[in-house]
Amino acid sequence: MRACLILLFGIAVSAALIDQQTKEEFELFLRKHGKHHNHPAEYAKRLSIFAKNRLRSVEHNLKYANGTVGWAAGITRFSDLTREEFKMLYTGSLPNFDSAHSTPFDEFHGKSAKRGTVDWRARGLVSTVKDQEQCGSCWSFATTAVVETCVGISTGQMYNASAYNLQDCAGHGWCQGLKPDVALKYVQKNGVFLTEDYPFAQGSCQVKHTARLFLNSTVKGSSEDELETLLQSGAVGVLIQADPLQLYRGGVITAPIAYSLDHAVVVVGLTTNCDGKSDQCWIVKNSWGTRWGERGYFRVARGIASMGLGPQGIFLPTGCSVQKTPSL
Ligand SMILES: *[C@@H]1O[C@H](CO)[C@@H](O)[C@H](O)[C@H]1NC(C)=O
Ligand SMILES: *[C@@H]1O[C@H](CO)[C@@H](O)[C@H](O)[C@H]1NC(C)=O
Ligand SMILES: *[C@@H]1O[C@H](CO)[C@@H](O)[C@H](O)[C@H]1NC(C)=O
Repeated sequence: MRACLILLFGIAVSAALIDQQTKEEFELFLRKHGKHHNHPAEYAKRLSIFAKNRLRSVEHNLKYANGTVGWAAGITRFSDLTREEFKMLYTGSLPNFDSAHSTPFDEFHGKSAKRGTVDWRARGLVSTVKDQEQCGSCWSFATTAVVETCVGISTGQMYNASAYNLQDCAGHGWCQGLKPDVALKYVQKNGVFLTEDYPFAQGSCQVKHTARLFLNSTVKGSSEDELETLLQSGAVGVLIQADPLQLYRGGVITAPIAYSLDHAVVVVGLTTNCDGKSDQCWIVKNSWGTRWGERGYFRVARGIASMGLGPQGIFLPTGCSVQKTPSL
């Protein structure tokens, strides 16, 4: 109890030191994101974390202004969370990608395809940006996103695939990290329902007698050059280290190489439109809604394994199909 009182006192003091502008921005932040803190201690704690993140962004943006980094930081929906909380709530530890059930890159028949810039959004083959809410289920959203584009290329028609189906059935309802290859294997064997037929997570696997999307095989890549080749055949899932994304507002991420990967996202394009920060950069689709980042997307400099993008955890589904009347 005593420790608790001292802690509360400490928080109250640090809250008192926070300037008026930060407090006003915090109030604006709470309104914008529909958050309420009835308990004064929780309010003070969140305000103090918000102030620290605000300072982190200001310091970061000094480097952005003088060209030391390629992306801007600022207030995001994650600004009232510590780095550790952000990591715990929105990402998940993703162990090394298991390639046992995938086609090795060298055997991939599309590998002789042309290289170069591409943007699958411009061809109408990327579905709307989704929001995984407060759940470390990035792996299921990355899997449905790559399957959606794969089905679009194979059939000429776009569908929304249910990430909740994968969460319930491949991930046993857990909101935590799972290897995307488990989800890919699940879609290969069982298919994935459309979002309209499986609109919510139910905590346990529900079987529906409705259409399902399937993939035939998964090709694995292990470098940014292989990623470029795979990208010519569809949207490509990648594992990254999400730290720079907490306060990301826009621009080209030039963060150094990372080794502990904790987030799964989808590369939908390679472009030279990189604000002069790099020759080429990847256009990446996230699953944190359209109000985050560049309308739900972010860009990452190519060629420096920034955020760990490249050396491992690159996956492309191929041979996708729709089964409209499942034989159950
Ligand atoms: C850019 O700004 C940062 C932060 O103020 C500073 O640490 C760094 O030395 C500056 N770099 C250059 C090249 O001016
Ligand atoms: C996918 O869902 C979004 C809503 O999240 C909707 O706006 C869009 O039209 C849907 N797309 C398809 C192809 O059903
Ligand atoms: C499915 O995969 C098998 C083996 O990998 C391949 O022989 C076959 O052509 C593929 N079918 C489609 C439709 O991609």
